[in-house]
Amino acid sequence: MKPLFAVIAVVASAAISAPALANQELAQKKGCLMCHAIDKKIIGPAYQDVAAAYTSEHVEQLTKKVLNGGGGVWGTARMVPNKDRGVTEAEAKQLVEWVLSLKKKAP
Ligand code: HEC
Repeated sequence: MKPLFAVIAVVASAAISAPALANQELAQKKGCLMCHAIDKKIIGPAYQDVAAAYTSEHVEQLTKKVLNGGGGVWGTARMVPNKDRGVTEAEAKQLVEWVLSLKKKAP
């Protein structure tokens, strides 16, 4: 019976990291990762830099920005209105909360 227990242990440990992965998959699916990466600037700022610049108090403000687009905070490039690209308010909020969770650990 030992091999079966080993399989169960592997499956259980994989499930622990599933929510973070699901969020990243959503960001991929919704095209956020065409313009953003977690740890480097592409067209938009690195998500780690966004996380460092805001707190959980900014979730509503950032959700609106993701939905409606805009510019002027990180440079001259503007974010497209993601609501025109099929992103719902609930998805935008979930993605913003995920982005803010990507703060770099203090050294
Ligand atoms: C066409 C490129 C593009 C796409 C697609 C895109 N972004 Fe952005 N994003 C940008 C740019 C450019 C900025 C910087 C805007 C600024 O300087 O105010 C930005 C800024 C942001 C910010 C910080 C806003 C602020 O005011 O500081 C967040 C959060 C964000 N994006 C999340 C997302 C999410 C979530 C998605 C997917 C639903 C997404 N972005 C899709 C280009 C993009």
